[in-house]
Amino acid sequence: MISLREIDPADLALFDEWYDAFRAGAVAGRSAALVIGREALGYSMRNPSPVKARIAVGAFENDRVLGAMLFEYRLTDNLDTVEVEIDVPPEHRRRGIGTALWQWAATRTAQLGRTIVQTELGVPAEPWPGAIFAERLGFVTEHVEEQLVVPLPFDEVRLEELRESAGRLDGYRLTSWAGVCPPEHLQAYADLHTAMDQDVPTGGMTREVVPWTLEKLEANEVRLNRNYLALVTMAHTVAGQPAGYTLMYLPRADAEHAQQDDTLVLREHRGHNLGTHLKLANLDQLAHHRTTQRFLHTWTALTNAPMRKVNTHFGFHPVEQHRELELRLPSLRPAARGVILDPDDRILLVRFEFPDGPLWATPGGGLEPGETVVEGLRRELIEEVGLEGFPDPPHLWHQEVVAEGHATGYDGVLNDYFLIRTTAFDPAGTLSPDELRAENVHALRWWTRTELEADPGRFAPRNLPALLRHLLESGPPNTPTQLTL
Ligand SMILES: CC(C)(COP(=O)(O)OP(=O)(O)OC[C@H]1O[C@@H](n2cnc3c(N)ncnc32)[C@H](O)[C@@H]1OP(=O)(O)O)[C@@H](O)C(=O)NCCC(=O)NCCS
Repeated sequence: MISLREIDPADLALFDEWYDAFRAGAVAGRSAALVIGREALGYSMRNPSPVKARIAVGAFENDRVLGAMLFEYRLTDNLDTVEVEIDVPPEHRRRGIGTALWQWAATRTAQLGRTIVQTELGVPAEPWPGAIFAERLGFVTEHVEEQLVVPLPFDEVRLEELRESAGRLDGYRLTSWAGVCPPEHLQAYADLHTAMDQDVPTGGMTREVVPWTLEKLEANEVRLNRNYLALVTMAHTVAGQPAGYTLMYLPRADAEHAQQDDTLVLREHRGHNLGTHLKLANLDQLAHHRTTQRFLHTWTALTNAPMRKVNTHFGFHPVEQHRELELRLPSLRPAARGVILDPDDRILLVRFEFPDGPLWATPGGGLEPGETVVEGLRRELIEEVGLEGFPDPPHLWHQEVVAEGHATGYDGVLNDYFLIRTTAFDPAGTLSPDELRAENVHALRWWTRTELEADPGRFAPRNLPALLRHLLESGPPNTPTQLTL
């Protein structure tokens, strides 16, 4: 049976095992995949950024990690959005592990009160498993870039031709540096970053652009510098006004790959070959700082014809598509629920009263901010029925119901159900009868399977009698069954 757990990044052996699965899933079938390095990701997880939360989730079977997810969200802007990356190594695919990780993401997204999920896909060929998987979940491709690669060291003949065809650079000065931005250029560099964020095409991806402040840029530079050597060339007018920049990263722990990131020429300075001059100057820096790297990667929007032309001149060739996808979720109220069975297979249910009659449901309730689903389950069961001290329970069902009237202020509910085997007990939680009544709980009662199947009343989940029969006959599923009613 697969169980999901958050990985403590300080547990180095476990983080390593998780990273191995993450990487193996991400690179499979891709000749030029560029995946964040173990050291860089480990560092950013062990030293959390004040602006971004990162959670590593592992899918475990018998204490082995079979699948990995990186779940991230910004803390000070883009507060409706989360980013997910799910990677399952090929030998463990098509067993529902990707879906189980996705369900974890859906629950945590709802718990954070966010509704936009974003992801990125490297697609070297069609059909591609990740694209099929994402489309099935409802993701829509909002932006496509081409990933291109050029072998290193750079072809000197080509560089010379480019230098000649670029001509002289009149009216501008170029400044290059390696590492963190020199203090005298910080303000211009921050403004250029903001202009880049505003200018870079992202198709239909939802993105709130927040201007770069000096503090934010400096903090970001220091963090990046731990794991990447940045090579930057910036252009100024002779009067000292910033006109553009280009940026390359040499990941410090990656002996093979370098990446060409942003290149921006401000609108009013376009048409002077400044982009080519910037890149040429930065390639001189690369020649100086490169050690073992054999490939330089870059990404360009399919719609960006001028940049694609420049890339071709520089000798880049396309290796795969880089897609950005987005999914808008309804706002669902997340809850954890217990399928509590005694040794006679009786199930404990609570009775809610609604204007249109009673409804019998599994005990449990809404998650509080910051608690895991199982922590929420434990708290709710102590409060509602007085059950505690059970081992981590198997996850049975993941239910998303989009319907009016299920939870005030939400588009519907999201329930994760767990199996708890216990001796029979008289349910009595820490909540008083009045407090239970305030939560609309009017009775608690054990049901035999026969009673459940004979009762014409309403249950939640709606087909609880059939689900229970299946559970008792076949045992818990290997990964949670998805319910919609
Ligand atoms: C995409 C990925 C995470 C799926 O992992 P998985 O554990 O195989 O996923 P599941 O078993 O839960 O598959 C769920 C469904 O997705 C679809 N699917 C997944 N892989 C597929 C494939 N190769 N061909 C056709 N359909 C596929 C199927 O509908 C499948 O259901 P089924 O097996 O009952 O038919 C995995 O292929 C992977 O790691 N790919 C590389 C990274 C990536 O692209 N991640 C996705 C973006 S976040």
